[in-house]
Amino acid sequence: MRIILLGPPGAGKGTQAKLLKDNFKLSHISTGDLLRKAVADNMTIGKTVKGYMDKGDLVPDSLVVELLKEKLASKDTNGGFILDGFPRNVSQAEILDKAFKEKNLNIDYVIYLKADEPVIIQRLSGRRVCSKCQANFHVTNMPPKKKGICDNCGSSLYQRTDDQEEAIRNRLKVYLKETASLIGYYLNQKKLVEMDANFEAPVVFDKLKNVLSNSTKISLPGAFKERA
Ligand code: AP5
Repeated sequence: MRIILLGPPGAGKGTQAKLLKDNFKLSHISTGDLLRKAVADNMTIGKTVKGYMDKGDLVPDSLVVELLKEKLASKDTNGGFILDGFPRNVSQAEILDKAFKEKNLNIDYVIYLKADEPVIIQRLSGRRVCSKCQANFHVTNMPPKKKGICDNCGSSLYQRTDDQEEAIRNRLKVYLKETASLIGYYLNQKKLVEMDANFEAPVVFDKLKNVLSNSTKISLPGAFKERA
């Protein structure tokens, strides 16, 4: 199964991707994580992208595509994968379509996680990330057992630079300007499943699992919607 998770920052793409990965034994490919790793490892590409990421702007397509193609070429994606944070604009979607066509591959689902702005801001401003294993927590929604410490590996948690208020606002603007048009793009391809992601993570995941496991989709003109 090959899935794209689409949605505004803070909709829960990373959180749902991790749950999907474990449940369906898929590989999780987050372009945000790949880019943050390039920055942390002091790679040349990391030095170029850091400024864009800190402000909440998209990094140039050519750089993200390079990282993604490398990842897609690895064997661990053969059993299926979840793309989290890619594509981010129509040009990236077209690059992906072309690459898949060449390999005779298909995207099975594009899950659009829809969340309201106050929910997004509450989630992003309270997010804390593990400095070692990149696990995500939230100060109130999903607090670690011990404040500031990762439950999984015991390392310290930090706040992402782009989770400061100014960068969050910019990311939302960038999403509306660049990424939201992908909803129409994938509606036209009849691959979009829209999900209300304002609920708690386990509730959203149950609905998602239901859609993917049982294909409980109802066909709408040019779209799929989750069954209520
Ligand atoms: P990226 O890392 O992809 O960030 P994003 O898309 O802004 O998404 P987030 O990770 O902020 O949110 P999410 O939807 O994954 O939510 P999460 O599950 O973490 O990209 C970062 C930057 O990299 C971009 O700004 C850009 O510069 C660059 N970049 C990346 N890809 C690119 C591309 N393709 N092209 C160009 N540039 C690119 O949840 C957030 C918080 O909410 C967590 O604390 C979590 O615990 C909590 N939470 C999650 N779900 C729930 C829930 N249901 N209920 C309560 N709390 C919840």
